[in-house]
Amino acid sequence: MSTTATVTTEPATTIDANAVVVGHFQDSDLRGAAAHLDEATGGALARLVATEDLSGKSGAITRLLAPHGVQATAIVVVGLGKEENFDRGAAFRAASAAAKSLADKPRERVAFYLGEGWTQECVEAAVCGALAGCEGQDLYRAEKDLHPFGQLLWPPATQPALASANAIAVGVGLTRRLVNEPASEIYPESFAARAAEVAQQHGLEIETWDRARLEQERCGALLAVSQGSVREPRLVILRHRGGGSDQPTLALVGKGVTFDSGGLSLKPSDGMKTMKCDMAGAATVLGALSAIAQLNLPVNVIGLMGLTENMVNGASFKLGDVLTARSGKTIEVLNTDAEGRLVLADTLDVAVELGAAKIIDLATLTGACVVALGTDVAGLMTNDQTWCHQVEAAAQACGEPAWQLPMFQEFSAQIKSKVADIKNIGDGRWGGAITAAKFLEEFVGDTPWTHIDIAGPAFLESPKSWIDAGATGAFVRTLVEVARRWNDDVTYLPSR
Ligand code: BES
Ligand code: MN
Ligand code: ZN
Repeated sequence: MSTTATVTTEPATTIDANAVVVGHFQDSDLRGAAAHLDEATGGALARLVATEDLSGKSGAITRLLAPHGVQATAIVVVGLGKEENFDRGAAFRAASAAAKSLADKPRERVAFYLGEGWTQECVEAAVCGALAGCEGQDLYRAEKDLHPFGQLLWPPATQPALASANAIAVGVGLTRRLVNEPASEIYPESFAARAAEVAQQHGLEIETWDRARLEQERCGALLAVSQGSVREPRLVILRHRGGGSDQPTLALVGKGVTFDSGGLSLKPSDGMKTMKCDMAGAATVLGALSAIAQLNLPVNVIGLMGLTENMVNGASFKLGDVLTARSGKTIEVLNTDAEGRLVLADTLDVAVELGAAKIIDLATLTGACVVALGTDVAGLMTNDQTWCHQVEAAAQACGEPAWQLPMFQEFSAQIKSKVADIKNIGDGRWGGAITAAKFLEEFVGDTPWTHIDIAGPAFLESPKSWIDAGATGAFVRTLVEVARRWNDDVTYLPSR
């Protein structure tokens, strides 16, 4: 991460900056810094409100250049939407949209006068948004699309939230960067090396299982997926000991398929072209753990990342193969492109063995989930309704859309096999997100578990007004929120 947010005490009207950003609620008066800038400019903003050129519609960006009476080179007004609808998600997206619009060229000093009168949670989300919005997927372009700001300044009222916002933004940025990097750069070994750097930086314990250890541990499902690749698999275990040794452990488990060609059930080119993103679950876990460690949250969290490529060569695992997973369950392989659930089968088993009190797994698991819920909404599936509600409420609080899919017993019949305990695909393609989750459920025993299928929201094919295309870092903020709520006695219910 190149930019971090810091405080300025200089008022919006007199600050020497390339741009000052203020917010405007729909159907509301100009307030705070926006009102001060309006005064300094002799009523320029009020005129735009009167003519409805400045509507306050959520995410709308209005730029005034070289405004008279103001020191900064530009005023940017970002619409905050209707005040009654304003929440952390709206704060994130508004600040992110403003940042993205200003990142169109290099700017040394950008000051955001947002957050006065907001909750610290909304401030934190907005600062995170501003840091995410000015960075994109143009890692390998000489001519960048987006230019992170030299300095990002916020008014004193936001001070209490800045440190945590910076920490979370680093996590989100890390996840996005890992997902955006191509599979030639990010493969199991190099991902594990990045994880080791993060662990070193933030004081996380780390253990990495190489192929020999995975064999010793009988991780037959994960190993089978890796067979067709010249890259060796890894299983990375990160540990944050923020709670007492008698306190329960939250396990975060991520699918880390650093490239998914489909294996012998080869994907067509169109379906394969974005499959560097198939390690987004693991990257989300790593990003969240880096934030949790940096925030020093008083909880015990372990992060487990199952890392492998799914490739094709003479040693590839084959259709009809029967695998023995680490748990001892046998699996008939009927489609090598349903590899994520095989990787997770062994990774979840390790989480259970390490004594996780509750588990969340994140995976770009099924195209079917994207068919069901669209590209912006993650699918939630669970074996424990209370736990799922807690995860859902955290996601909702962060403004990260997620929706629960049913886990009716009837779906289990679909993964019965004639030759092994279970098979790795359902009978047909209908309900594919759920049959995949039913498969995962076989490996968590009685541990409360919630599965988040992020195949839609993890990676954008085209940009949004507030964020570049490519990796989004979705659900890093939700995982941090879950960890923050871990010691609470109250059960948060999502409000639908
Ligand atoms: N990684 C894919 C799922 C995916 C699809 C992620 C689109 C992101 C965007 C997964 O490994 C996969 O190939 N799933 C198959 C399962 C099928 C063979 C049962 C799918 O969704 O088609
Ligand atoms: Mn696949
Ligand atoms: Zn996959």
